[in-house]
Amino acid sequence: MVTGVMKSGEIINKAPVVTGLVNYEQAGKEFSWEAVKKELFLPDNPAKKANIAYEAIDKHAQSWRKNKVALYWEGPDGTRQKYTFLELKNLSDKCANMLRSIGVKKGDRVFIFLPRLPELYISIIAIAKLGAIAGPMFSAFGPDAVRDRLQNSEAKVLITTQELKERVDTVLWELPKLERIVLVDYRKEYELEEKDVCYATLMKDASDKFEAVGLELEDPLYILYTSGTTGKSKGITHVHYDMISYYITTKWVLDLRDEDIYWCTADPGWVTGTVYGLWGPWLNGVSSYIYDGRFDAAKWYEIIQTYKITVWYTAPTALRMLMKAGDDLIKKYDLTSLRYICSVGEPLNPEVIRWGVKVYQLPIHDTWWQTETGAIMIANYPCLPIKPGSMGKPFPGTKAAIIDGKGNELPAGQHGLLALQPGWPSMLRAVWGDEKRFREYFSINGWYATGDTAYKDEDGYFWFVGRADDVINTSGHRVGPFEVESALLEHRAVAEAGVIGKPDVERGEIIKAFVVLREGFAISKALEEEIKVFIKHRLAAHAYPREIEFCGNLPKTRSGKIMRRLLKARDLGLPTGDISTLED
Ligand code: WT7
Repeated sequence: MVTGVMKSGEIINKAPVVTGLVNYEQAGKEFSWEAVKKELFLPDNPAKKANIAYEAIDKHAQSWRKNKVALYWEGPDGTRQKYTFLELKNLSDKCANMLRSIGVKKGDRVFIFLPRLPELYISIIAIAKLGAIAGPMFSAFGPDAVRDRLQNSEAKVLITTQELKERVDTVLWELPKLERIVLVDYRKEYELEEKDVCYATLMKDASDKFEAVGLELEDPLYILYTSGTTGKSKGITHVHYDMISYYITTKWVLDLRDEDIYWCTADPGWVTGTVYGLWGPWLNGVSSYIYDGRFDAAKWYEIIQTYKITVWYTAPTALRMLMKAGDDLIKKYDLTSLRYICSVGEPLNPEVIRWGVKVYQLPIHDTWWQTETGAIMIANYPCLPIKPGSMGKPFPGTKAAIIDGKGNELPAGQHGLLALQPGWPSMLRAVWGDEKRFREYFSINGWYATGDTAYKDEDGYFWFVGRADDVINTSGHRVGPFEVESALLEHRAVAEAGVIGKPDVERGEIIKAFVVLREGFAISKALEEEIKVFIKHRLAAHAYPREIEFCGNLPKTRSGKIMRRLLKARDLGLPTGDISTLED
């Protein structure tokens, strides 16, 4: 039996769009990747081959945009810097020469373990210019996570800071393929060890003239590691041809235009920070703002006010934290520069969208994609009404479908596996060194299987249900944990919620909720009852959590997803498995 618990009647209509993607239906009919390629590539591309760094940086540095600010940067201590496209070209040219001087060649893996410093962005561009393969790693990783990535990729060079290098020191002996460690913040009192070299010294000697290496479009660009259900994390490998997807999705989904000041809050250690933190905006010649600091509601609003951020790409967790920080805080800032907000990474609760409309006078546009898809695949567009709780519609030119285990397409309303028809430019090209795990993605009759379950409604909107292994079956009813979590969040006492299916002799599974209360609410039996009744009435009689456990926080990945798997393992006293992506 299939139940679509989400109320699908609600829609948010918006003002008509004047630029960007104006007509979704028509764009789909006329769409061709070849046409996008022609739009992006200048006919006079000097290399005659391709390089994303040329298209994103060098091209603009040779155009009227040369003195336009490409990167506004702010450090945790308030230090501010800005770089024009021309400055980024010169610095990345220098950096490419510097890397070449220590032996980096086309195809070599260069991993980066840095906070969101300007050098992180400059090295990513430089690595692409050389045709080497970048491996950005989140600066909160511990030694084991770093070791696994450097080992699996057989990285030749690591770019890091003295402080972060200390975390690598304990595992260095396990990394014989690593030849050089480039220290970005080298100070004199530090004794360089055998493999260490100093970024600043090498940069000083390097020329700032470098011609981006002309590549085949299928040459690899970067590797990002992501967890599967089993085994170690997989090195998802992307190529330069991805840029076709980055360019057009940034333009049509994030709606970026030349005059925008854009802020993507993600770290390049996660795919959002790599694809839409730098490549997407720069391929479109747009100014991007980067904040190398932690989440802080007041600071975030101050950023929007100071930099006059116009387009903001963030995550549901952040939005929920902002919601928790309260509406009074918002009144202290002038946020009128904001014109467009998008979200990614986990289900965006309808409650958060309604709150966005109330406090920012803007709806939040959910976007769905994965490390593997390389770019946004399903989204809410400026020109389409939003149905709160829906991920939106497939990007023009791509086909998304709900399929059963044999690859048959299911009709509207039925829950099934979310699959994509292979062939879009930014699809993963390999799981680094693991052909078998790569093939597994395509094992259902040639579809690319996302691992998510979802359903499609009569209007072609897609609704997220859960990971393929997260859907709860209680007394024969299928219930998506997202729907229950969303409903819980609508209760005035609930700040955060994670929901799992707990094995039950009678019902197969019962729904169990882990709940973090909002400030000012105390745990009590009465409140527990109240929440249960609230959900029973709000959602469905079968979909209320029979068990509620109150907790101080929820285990989350560093990209903000609640780790239901971990909640479940802890609840059942099972081994917790790979938790290398856990937040703390
Ligand atoms: C998984 C991919 C690519 C952005 C960061 C996450 C979940 C992603 C949504 C959304 C519901 C979402 C899916 C997906 N997810 N976006 N809008 N609504 N779920 O990348 O770490 O590769 O995770 O994140 O489960 O499969 P990722």
